[in-house]
Amino acid sequence: MSTVDRNGKIPNNVDLAGDKRLQRALEHWLPLYMEWWNDMGPAGFQTNDIYLRTAVSVEAGGWANFDYVKMPDYRWGIFLTPNDSVNSIGFGDHYGKPTWQEIPGEYRGNLRRIIVTQADTEPASVEQQRFLGTIAPSLYDMRNLFQINVEEGRHLWAMVYLLFRFFGKDGRDEAEELLSRRSGDEDKPRILNAFNEACDHWLSFFCFTHFTDRDGKFQLASLAESGFEPLARTCDFMLTEEAHHLFVGETGLDRIIKRSAELTMETDGDPMSAGGIPLDMIQRAINYWFTYSLDLFGGEISSNAANFFGEGLKGRFKEKSRYEDHVMKTGIKIVPQVIGGVLVEDEVPYRNAINEVLRDEYIEDCKRALRKWNRTLEKSGVGVELSLPSRRFHRHQGIYADYPFDPEGNLITKETLEANTSRWLLNSADNDFLVSIMNQVIEPGKMANWIAPPSRGINGQPLEFEYVRL
Ligand SMILES: [Fe+2]
Ligand SMILES: [Fe+2]
Repeated sequence: MSTVDRNGKIPNNVDLAGDKRLQRALEHWLPLYMEWWNDMGPAGFQTNDIYLRTAVSVEAGGWANFDYVKMPDYRWGIFLTPNDSVNSIGFGDHYGKPTWQEIPGEYRGNLRRIIVTQADTEPASVEQQRFLGTIAPSLYDMRNLFQINVEEGRHLWAMVYLLFRFFGKDGRDEAEELLSRRSGDEDKPRILNAFNEACDHWLSFFCFTHFTDRDGKFQLASLAESGFEPLARTCDFMLTEEAHHLFVGETGLDRIIKRSAELTMETDGDPMSAGGIPLDMIQRAINYWFTYSLDLFGGEISSNAANFFGEGLKGRFKEKSRYEDHVMKTGIKIVPQVIGGVLVEDEVPYRNAINEVLRDEYIEDCKRALRKWNRTLEKSGVGVELSLPSRRFHRHQGIYADYPFDPEGNLITKETLEANTSRWLLNSADNDFLVSIMNQVIEPGKMANWIAPPSRGINGQPLEFEYVRL
């Protein structure tokens, strides 16, 4: 099962050659995927050699190969983490029973929905990032962008494999739909809001890869617990690649914050005059992308989420190691709710609040990164701190979406919210300014003025390395 076929049309470790029908179906989908990539993948740069890593195996030590590749020649493959032992379902009502190798009929609808929702985010992000190569701050960053883009493409393959293999005609139809929806399109948008938001400069790109890809980490990790084993193993391997996307976001923001602090000091508090990004603008970008990403976890109180957990389809983050009770049939969670115009602490059955449990984990992880950025600011002596807004602020999904909150999470009036929105959230003047300072820098080792260099290069290569051959 886990032998790697590197030479077939579609590299894989799922024995495609042994299932001719499936292999033909996926090979038929390949040109459709390439058509989408050519239309909606990175604008330009398709004939350039780029120093990319490609997943070639599933062994922890040597799973990737680094070399110059033209993006359309990237080997998008299907890799599942191998299964060496007999596994049992780790949570929910089927706790302790053997995992499913095929889809249990009664959960087909729910699994289809889970897989399609995850799958849709992968091509969406490629579409959102499509023009960023033309304003990249360095060859190092440009290469990281393209690395993320090709890997999101591979994640689409990972999900489409599941659709073709387990959902028959429905799966093939869904796979087609995945290539026909478009990020931000009025008629055929992507499924989730954050994946329809414009990402037209690198401050948004780094916020996106930090906050929105991080939602992906937590979704994939909870699906990696799934009782449907092919889904669990697929997601487990996707997490290996995802780690780099989060690294790009977190360190990218840290480098911007460092440089902004330097320029703020050098210019007596007017970094824009030197083509730098003001720290309050960075705060607005954090507020914007963090809150859109919070929406991706779904409603605070959700019977769907309770079912996914009870049915053994979607667990919690690190279900095995972090929790003792894996069934949670009883138990409650406190969820503050607006009742009669005031915020009160309400008790919700634990399983119904399971989205909130995952959101808690996510927020903790975001706080960890924030502490790092604040250490960078502290070292600079600029005397500014960044913060994360409340989970109630600027929400479009869930129980807080209908109420106006300030970034501290206090209920306010609609008028106060409207009067302060451009102070609290990335606004069109910010976006115009950010686009205006972002000019492509292509000299190896050089950085745009608004960002500090990274501490090291990729795969042991020096910073001056020619990561993209233009
Ligand atoms: Fe992904
Ligand atoms: Fe990602």
